[in-house]
Amino acid sequence: MARANGKVILLGEHAVVYGVPAIAAGIGKGATAIAVPAERPLLVLGAERVVRAGEDDELGRAFTALHAATGVGSYRIDVTLELPPGAGLGASASIGVATARALFEASGIEAGRERVLEAAGAWERVFHGNPSGIDAEAAACEACILYSRADGARPIAVAGEVPLVIGIAGPSASTRVMVEGVAELRQRKPEVVDKAMAGILALVNAAKGCLGVGDLRGLGRLMDLNQMLLSGLFVSTEGIERACAVARAAGALGAKLTGSGGGGAVIALAPGDPEVILSAFRSEGIQCFATTVGASSGGTRR
Ligand code: PMV
Repeated sequence: MARANGKVILLGEHAVVYGVPAIAAGIGKGATAIAVPAERPLLVLGAERVVRAGEDDELGRAFTALHAATGVGSYRIDVTLELPPGAGLGASASIGVATARALFEASGIEAGRERVLEAAGAWERVFHGNPSGIDAEAAACEACILYSRADGARPIAVAGEVPLVIGIAGPSASTRVMVEGVAELRQRKPEVVDKAMAGILALVNAAKGCLGVGDLRGLGRLMDLNQMLLSGLFVSTEGIERACAVARAAGALGAKLTGSGGGGAVIALAPGDPEVILSAFRSEGIQCFATTVGASSGGTRR
């Protein structure tokens, strides 16, 4: 049996695809995978979906790629997911990392982080086309990381905990489609997108400083600015903007989408009692939970 985290991106999504570092952290909710020997490789996702290696749909291809990358024998893997899928909380990477870990463990192979990430990366590439790799890195770690394509994941210093409320602002969109949308915009208007990327880089660098000294107020302002730049890349939605506004009105120090946008999750920086923002979300029909991230993340409360 093995586990992996879900994740939030505090700042830097989309820009990370173009080499800008992003700040991400694992959250306590994630995926659990149990592997037992079987005649043929089989992946069972909750009660809904049975995936066989060799099947020619997206999940089948992803599982085949992951299984081949591990190089282990035949196992049935049962996955329990604690996250809403496709909401930008890293559900697919979490399943990939938990499954790879379970396969290695069941086969008695002591696989290090690199091998697990390689197998999870093979799974992620089928869904995402051009993933930066940040989801799988965050799924495999507990702490706050600075991730870039060039340097991989590096832990960053966090003074205290960062209290978050996560709300699901609407139906999710495909990460692949959202990433392609930014790529198309960049082709049409390179100067607009490049300026946004430079702005996001500056915000990420400043946020690293805020995290290091526990300046939540500063971090919240940077999150709001990052949300503004993401809106300019057309990855926000009315639902996301509304959820951010609800959170800010209920006392959040900052709020933004997390992940690829187009729907899905928002994160709100919630000092003090998270219940105020949770009930504001609930009264708007927004599914939500509170969590903390930081030096050692994973204090999901509900
Ligand atoms: O998979 P999501 O929706 O959490 O998005 C990942 C973050 C992106 O920067 C949008 C894509 C990537 O591969 O980094």
